[in-house]
Amino acid sequence: MIPMNKLEELEKKVTASPLPKHIAIIMDGNGRWAKMHKQKRIFGHKAGVDALRRVVEIAGDINLEYLTVYAFSTENWGRSKTEVNYLLKLIMDSLNKEIEELRKNNVNIRFIGSEKELSANYNKKVIETCKKSWDNDGLKFNIAMNYGSRREIFEAFLKMHSEIEKGKLSIGEMDEDTISNYLYTANMPDPELIIRTSGEQRLSNFLIWQSAYAEFWFTNTLWPDFSKEEFLQAIADFQTRERRFGKR
Ligand code: IPE
Ligand code: IPE
Ligand code: MG
Repeated sequence: MIPMNKLEELEKKVTASPLPKHIAIIMDGNGRWAKMHKQKRIFGHKAGVDALRRVVEIAGDINLEYLTVYAFSTENWGRSKTEVNYLLKLIMDSLNKEIEELRKNNVNIRFIGSEKELSANYNKKVIETCKKSWDNDGLKFNIAMNYGSRREIFEAFLKMHSEIEKGKLSIGEMDEDTISNYLYTANMPDPELIIRTSGEQRLSNFLIWQSAYAEFWFTNTLWPDFSKEEFLQAIADFQTRERRFGKR
């Protein structure tokens, strides 16, 4: 841990330069963190929520525009029933618990992902709760829940196909932006910085289309231990990168 004054200095430095418009985080390592503490995996997920609360608070403090976090993937259904059910409940309970505070802090929260495997009741409750924050114009905070990039792109194709059939969309007018506008992240800027904790260096089906020109930042830290210092350091590193977008 670095001393408080150094942390304040880092925050000042980071906020003095343009921030990435959109940061996306693959919050990984909860299970290993629990193992390290000789606890069950669910203990790690619970600690993961605390880490997320800290990060959202910092994102608000530094006036970040968009934050997207990977909470549950379309592949995570392959885990044990106990773990899956625990995660579904933890995500819903945390949303209910935090919504008032998020609302007060001008955070605008939404879930992105497929509704398919989740119950109609679950999806309805998520929207009802998130809606309470939709007048807010501060941090736009997306929770990727039952999210998979390939599913997202597939669902976009289905939606586009249906609108073409209805005559609302014509192939001749379509371009790459059209596809972006049919994704769950329609009207959002692409993530400029993608952070993954726990030492893994892969996307795991997260924001594949959107991350075409993202900068990546990896750390061995397990998600529940992800600190303010590291979050700020990731942004500071992003600010030193030369982004060429294929040009000279
Ligand atoms: C990330 O932590 C949280 C979710 C995927 C829901 P993991 O549960 O993947 O933790 P590890 O990778 O097993 O340590
Ligand atoms: C990615 O982590 C999904 C989330 C963080 C929600 P995983 O732990 O599921 O990814 P893999 O299996 O290591 O690729
Ligand atoms: Mg993992």
